[in-house]
This record gives sequence, C-alpha cells and structure tokens, in this order.
Amino acid sequence: MPTKPAKRSPRMKAGHRAEETLRVLISHSRIHTRVRQMAQEIRRDFPNEPMHLVGVLKGSILFLADLARELGGEVSFDFISVSSYGKGMDSTGEVKMIKDLDVSIEGRSVLVVEDILDTGLTLKYLLRLFEGRKPKHLRVAVLLDKVERRIADVRADYVGFVIPNEFVVGYGLDYDERYRNLPDVCVVRLGPRGKTKVEA
Ligand code: XMP
Ligand code: MG
Repeated sequence: MPTKPAKRSPRMKAGHRAEETLRVLISHSRIHTRVRQMAQEIRRDFPNEPMHLVGVLKGSILFLADLARELGGEVSFDFISVSSYGKGMDSTGEVKMIKDLDVSIEGRSVLVVEDILDTGLTLKYLLRLFEGRKPKHLRVAVLLDKVERRIADVRADYVGFVIPNEFVVGYGLDYDERYRNLPDVCVVRLGPRGKTKVEA
C-alpha cells in the first residue's frame, strides 16, 4: 500500500532540505507594498518616459516582473547575466559577463533592476559598461541593500529594503539554485557540520 505523503509547508515545497534553517525576513505582502511604492517613485521621476528595464539574471526576475506591472506606461525589458558568486554563499570578487544585452541602450531611459546590492562590485561593473553605451538616463533599482557589506563606491537610486549582513533567499534569490520560488525573502543558515537547519 502506498504511504501517505507527509504534509509539507509551502517553504518545504520550494526545495527546503531538512538540514537547512530558513527564517522569513520580509514577507511577500511587505514586498508587494514596497514594490508598488518604488514604482510610484520611479514614475514620479520619469512620468511619461518609456522605461527600458535591464534585469540582472537570474535573481531579479520576480522583482522585475512585479515592478514592471506596477510601473505602467511604456516599458520594455532586456536581460544581462554576469557572475560574481560561485555555487555557495561566497563571492569570488571578480565579475564575469555571461550574457550581454540583446539590444542597444543608446538614447534610452534605462533602469537596471537588481535583486540585491552586496559588495557593489557587480553594480560597479554594470554601470561602467552601460555608461559607455550612452543611455539617455541610467538609474538603478534594487530590492535589497546590504549596506554594511559595501566595498565599491556605488549606490542605487531606488532601494526596497536595507537588510543586515545575512545570506538571503526567496523572491528570485537562490542558494545553489534552490528557493528562488519562495514568495518571501528568507534568511538561510547552515546547520552543524556545514549543513543547513528550518525555523518558522
Ligand atoms: P555584489 O557583491 O557584487 O553582489 O554586490 C551582488 C550579487 O551577489 C549575489 N548575492 C546574493 N545572492 N543571497 C543571494 O541569493 C544573498 O544574500 C546574496 N548576496 C549577494 C546576488 O546575485 C547579487 O546580484
Ligand atoms: Mg544577482
């Protein structure tokens, strides 16, 4: 006889492993409210401007999708992929281009959309790259800002939440490609013996 599957919380379904600890840091409803406010701030600054959103793959995609819907008006998308992080939680420090934009940004009002600003090395690399391509405007929106980790001298024009120096997952952010589909932003902690463990 087949055994009844154990009840799993939505977080468990999102790829949780028993040895990992997840704690909700920012709930989906807080994210939703803040993303709407950010879109209003952006539209206040650029009321009738077609906005070209440049998402930094892959972490920004849920944020970009929600922000784009709240922005209204004329909006287009493009994506770039760079890597500064290895497989786990540590940055390698160097930024590498994996996939460039599909179309030119010359003369466009560009909004770079990033999941999280950490050391700032990725954003510094991107801004230098994009500035050289002569956009009409170049602005940055980040959902999360780990201010205390900053190394590079960069800042975002629109920031969702300033967060402490903890490794976070969910709402697009991953740990080894898992947890991107969590609706909330959660702190993930490794458990004993280098494994990870979960709290409510
Ligand atoms: P830097 O240090 O260049 O890093 O500002 C930006 C990129 O690093 C990744 N990152 C994280 N990813 N949880 C994640 O899932 C985190 O806590 C975290 N901190 C940095 C992320 O890809 C970001 O674009
Ligand atoms: Mg990223």
